[in-house]
Amino acid sequence: MKLIIDPKGKKYLMKKGEKEFHTQHGVIKIQKKDGLIETHKGTTYLQVEANFTDKLLQCGRGPQVVLPKDAAAIVAHTNLQPGAKVVDAGAGSGWLSSFISHYIGPEGRVTTYEIRKEFAKIAKDNFKFLELTNIKLKNADITKGIKERKLDLITLDLLTPTKVPNIPAALKKGGYVVAYVPHLEQAEDFVAFAKKQGLYFERTIEVIEREWGLKWDSLKEKMGAIGHTAYLVFCRKI
Ligand SMILES: C[S@@+](CC[C@H](N)C(=O)[O-])C[C@H]1O[C@@H](n2cnc3c(N)ncnc32)[C@H](O)[C@@H]1O
Repeated sequence: MKLIIDPKGKKYLMKKGEKEFHTQHGVIKIQKKDGLIETHKGTTYLQVEANFTDKLLQCGRGPQVVLPKDAAAIVAHTNLQPGAKVVDAGAGSGWLSSFISHYIGPEGRVTTYEIRKEFAKIAKDNFKFLELTNIKLKNADITKGIKERKLDLITLDLLTPTKVPNIPAALKKGGYVVAYVPHLEQAEDFVAFAKKQGLYFERTIEVIEREWGLKWDSLKEKMGAIGHTAYLVFCRKI
């Protein structure tokens, strides 16, 4: 799948087999070979092969999604490895589960629970678009219990993470549960809940991503930060 990048760095994902792309600077003919290409009016664009994150960022959205900055922090701070076993809830648009699925690779397994059929469909369509084969979507309520065992990681991005039972039984020793919550009070509640279950509270973080425009590439409009998204609460089975 090809990605076209305009002079300001904006990215456009081409559909498979697409031959032409109409831009504000004229028409681009998609080339077999990647590199710089000119529109018929002479503006230079760049054509490259789209990578996984390029495709993820073009995926459909239903409810609020977990962005790569937060998904990457989860992967980094839980020391997630290829081949890991993960449970996620709720699937929502499937962005977090897709990021994790891609990261842990074909030997790994993500099971993601989603209570609402319409969101389960968005997530499934995204998994198909991203060609992910190691994700299982369960149209089920995670507060009824987690069936999977010996998990390396459980990620909870839903209104009621403190209603999810049996987390320690589902985790393997050293495994993590990460709650993704918009408010600090919810983070505090989750820590209290996790401690009651005998889990070790490791840390709560907020990830701020700020992209800077530099003088020579006139990308000034990119300055500023992505606003608050959520707090990430890391707890561990010890
Ligand atoms: C904010 S969205 C999750 C977004 C997702 N992390 C992503 O990156 O695309 C929260 C989802 O949790 C689902 N949900 C809420 N309660 C649930 C439950 N008890 N069991 C399973 N899913 C639940 C909601 O229907 C909603 O789709």
